[in-house]
Amino acid sequence: MALPSGEPETSVLPGSVLVIGACGQLGLELVAALRQRYEPHLVVAADVRPPKNPDLLAGGPFELLDVLDRSRLDKLIRQYRPKQIYHLAALLSATAEKNPLFGWQLNMDGLLIVLEAAVAHGVAQVYWPSSIAVFGPDTPRDHTPQVTIMNPNTVYGISKLAGEQWCEWYHRKHGLDVRSLRYPGLIGYKSLPGGGTTDYAVDIYHKAVAGENYECFLSEDTHLPMMYMPDALKATLDLMHAPAEQIKVRTSYNLGAMSFSPAESAASIQRHLPDFQVTYKPDGRQQIADSWPASIDDAKARQDWGWQPDFDLDKMTADMLLHLKEMQLA
Ligand code: SER
Repeated sequence: MALPSGEPETSVLPGSVLVIGACGQLGLELVAALRQRYEPHLVVAADVRPPKNPDLLAGGPFELLDVLDRSRLDKLIRQYRPKQIYHLAALLSATAEKNPLFGWQLNMDGLLIVLEAAVAHGVAQVYWPSSIAVFGPDTPRDHTPQVTIMNPNTVYGISKLAGEQWCEWYHRKHGLDVRSLRYPGLIGYKSLPGGGTTDYAVDIYHKAVAGENYECFLSEDTHLPMMYMPDALKATLDLMHAPAEQIKVRTSYNLGAMSFSPAESAASIQRHLPDFQVTYKPDGRQQIADSWPASIDDAKARQDWGWQPDFDLDKMTADMLLHLKEMQLA
């Protein structure tokens, strides 16, 4: 696989890449970013359903894959011989609370199936996303440290915390190069989240650009850690391409960029669209949000592999509004 000219050689052997959960909010953007970085035909997108808009994953192979189907996964690995697997398929926090047993099965069995298959086939690297949901109501809320009291109280959070420990176990027992980030809420204009507690932070921009008002399902002062998608993609690719000896955390790295409340998000949008109005009607997701950190201490990621975000709230708002308006006109 050719690396773009001028890019330093890394510890990752160039080879094909398999992205599981490619039709999700992160998957759609990560496949596009990987296809820019590598030869597009070597980046294999896989999901349990085809993309709603096939153009979004055009330019490279797409395969149907239920991650709980180990024999299908084995077949795809034999077919494409991936050097890296990005395993993103999961139920998010709000959906998993409504469907706890399936949430546990998909999030937990799915990870174990991928880790087992990676070891069996000698896949060089696995990426698996964790989340701020690994923390719970007993965790210090502000500048939440890398190592602290966890005690998550959602199915999603419990599955992510257990998953982190499994990643560390596969690294220790099998030498598998599995890497992970605890994402904050992710915000992007190209794809929509589904079933998360931080989804409001994406929905609010879509309503604003459509000229509508927004009813927010969290209270106006609920501060949560958030991140703009270009930063999330940069962090993911930087982590995966860092030399192995720099990766000191084999559970999952805290990752921060910004922290804001719905009222601060609304105010940031109103600086561009003064007529935009937000009302607040908290639902069951408020309880989930209240159990999560308000902000994250990501010093370890900065120290170990040089993490540095580019976007704060106002920079993100300007970019989101610009792109969503362009998409509206197209
Ligand atoms: N954004 C996710 C959610 O809200 C958290 O990882 O469920």
